[in-house]
Amino acid sequence: MITRLKILIIAGFVFISFLPASATDVSGKIIGGTEATDGEYPFVVAILDTTNGATELNQQFCGGTLIAADWVLTAAHCMEDYTTATAISNLRVLAGTNVLSTTASTSGTKVRVSAVYVHESYNSVTFNNDIALLKLSTSLSEDTIDGLSSTTYPAFSVGTLATVAGWGTTAYPDTVHTYPTDLMEVDLPVVSNTTCSEVSGYSMTDNMLCAGYAEGGKDSCSGDSGGPLFVQDGSNYIVIGIVSNGYQCAQPNYYGIYTRVSQYTSWIDGKMNGTTDDGGSTDSGDTDTDVDTVDSGGGGGGGCSASKDGSPIALILMFTAGGIYLIRRRRA
Ligand code: ARG
Repeated sequence: MITRLKILIIAGFVFISFLPASATDVSGKIIGGTEATDGEYPFVVAILDTTNGATELNQQFCGGTLIAADWVLTAAHCMEDYTTATAISNLRVLAGTNVLSTTASTSGTKVRVSAVYVHESYNSVTFNNDIALLKLSTSLSEDTIDGLSSTTYPAFSVGTLATVAGWGTTAYPDTVHTYPTDLMEVDLPVVSNTTCSEVSGYSMTDNMLCAGYAEGGKDSCSGDSGGPLFVQDGSNYIVIGIVSNGYQCAQPNYYGIYTRVSQYTSWIDGKMNGTTDDGGSTDSGDTDTDVDTVDSGGGGGGGCSASKDGSPIALILMFTAGGIYLIRRRRA
């Protein structure tokens, strides 16, 4: 009798563990968004690590914005693991496609990274100054973003609807692998820093910006990091934020936190023109192979360079232990 009960309990547990995500789970594209039209946002690029798996879908771990033919703007926390020449040699920037391939082929252009510049004052605990630049080994021909938000031209105010795009997870909690092959987008209103810290309890710096809905349901999430939050001004797209942080995803009263791009005009200019270089790479030309990373110190931590490998073993572990967060090593 006792053993039968035990078997029943175990069987019940296994059954429940394999149930699909319930209808009450927050799900959608990005979270609560839609698929972007092919070629609509040519400045949105995917950042891949070739050691994360065999396909682009598995290799992608962050997003970025093409701000010049050979420069990509991204988040510092995406680059935490890229402090050596070997690690950087595994990076690829994929442009010119909305689709991450699930085979060996690609529909876009893939280039290498010759240098990684992490903001010197990036703080991996507070996420202050969560900004980095990638110098590409080869110039891309895709359209770059039209402009960067600056203090003299912010291009938005509180309440402005901004768009965030990325290949991040489309469901939270991410109990099954729900990474999209197609670029997703969602529109979110910009929220004031005061409201954001009051409602979400975040400690905000002037270098951060919040966007989202108090009721939740729409947000960026894991894998979207580094990608742009942008607005349209006439026919011009202006990047105002970089996907950075947030408590879980799309939860009521928890807005998404973005790096406030307008604070970094001179930092970005300095890196691109080599004038405020930190001592490594001084070459802004295409032949620059100098590996110049700035490790801001602070505790190791996984960064966001987890693979999206859906191997059976990982899936079994995931279902039995509910250990998705541990397996995936991603930051929030
Ligand atoms: N840190 C995440 C990443 O590495 C993105 C966080 C965005 N979170 C949010 N709730 N908006 O991909």
